[in-house]
Amino acid sequence: MNATSASDKEMLARGALDIMGSGLPGFALGVLGASPDCIKLIDLEGRVSFMSENGMCAMEIEDFGTVAGLRWTNLWPPEAKETLETALATAREGERTEFEAFCPTAKGKPRWWAVTVTPVHNPLGEVHLILASSRDVTETVNARRMLEEQAATLAREVAEKDTALARQKVLLAEIDHRVKNSFAAVIGLLNLQARNHTDPALREAVAQAASRIATLARVHDQLYRDPESDHLPLAAFASGLLADLDRALTGTVRAEILVPKELLLSVNAATALGQVMAELVGNAIKHAGREHLPIVEVTLATVGESRLLLSVADNGPGLPPGFDPAARHGLGMRILSVYSDQLDADLTCTNTPEGGAMFRLDFPVR
Ligand SMILES: Nc1ncnc2c1ncn2[C@@H]1O[C@H](COP(=O)(O)OP(=O)(O)OP(=O)(O)O)[C@@H](O)[C@H]1O
Ligand SMILES: [Mg+2]
Repeated sequence: MNATSASDKEMLARGALDIMGSGLPGFALGVLGASPDCIKLIDLEGRVSFMSENGMCAMEIEDFGTVAGLRWTNLWPPEAKETLETALATAREGERTEFEAFCPTAKGKPRWWAVTVTPVHNPLGEVHLILASSRDVTETVNARRMLEEQAATLAREVAEKDTALARQKVLLAEIDHRVKNSFAAVIGLLNLQARNHTDPALREAVAQAASRIATLARVHDQLYRDPESDHLPLAAFASGLLADLDRALTGTVRAEILVPKELLLSVNAATALGQVMAELVGNAIKHAGREHLPIVEVTLATVGESRLLLSVADNGPGLPPGFDPAARHGLGMRILSVYSDQLDADLTCTNTPEGGAMFRLDFPVR
């Protein structure tokens, strides 16, 4: 703003520029005008008596005459009025106020302002003018609002997911419960049928079916201890399942698990491994225990960084010469072949130096 404009002269006449206490009105106006903010001087009745040139620019006011002498609060939207009146009253009391408020420019552009309302004292120490300085903070406010909206959306999504997860947990627990009940019911039914059959071969077959389903139930039980994870700690799973098999069978299963506690295996691989272990241990007891108490040695160990070796050996008569698991028609060998393919395992069937059967599966950790 030019220090010689009509409104400056009017200001000078009213003594408003003494606010700087410099006695240099031109200098005082220059300082106010240089501020990048919108600076207004407001009299004690709340009327605008001065607006800096940058302020007119920011507010898109072309002629100060259109606002000069108007109540400052009337330049704002009604919702800001109360805040402004309070700020003016506080300034009259000699205190300063800061707030953030929305006010469109004279041409209607939406703008947010950080406003400071400060009392201006005359040389006698009385408040005789009020200085309002508004800084355009639209970009900051918009960015903050966008962040707040994003945070709120995120919080809403997290809450929704939490609810869904909680519902899923309840559902999983319910499914787990039902599966266990179904297993128990089928096993009970098969055992009942096995007892009722007079044909020993049929009785044995049905009892075998019951025991395989019991194995499935055991694998399920080990797997669903942590239903949320698609991986499980291998060592705990394998030793749990083998202890379980040992209890259910002869109590002569010796397990050696040489796998780091933290090693994880996918649920799919663990299911396959569980079935393989159950079939091999079952076979060892069935075929090695014909003449004496069967001892089954199960070793599960890591080989290098990424492979595992499962070995199941017994103290029985061993496998016949030229034994080919794929050529056998027993269900056990078929289960072994399906699951060892699923594990992508190299399968070897040999005899131990002592003559017992030994099955080894070498497979990648997945
Ligand atoms: N540990 C073992 N010791 C000796 N022979 C074995 C051993 N495991 C398997 N065999 C031989 O391999 C054959 C095939 O085994 P497989 O498990 O497929 O059938 P099964 O055990 O006879 O019957 P099931 O269908 O009930 O398993 C067995 O009949 C047995 O001759
Ligand atoms: Mg078998």
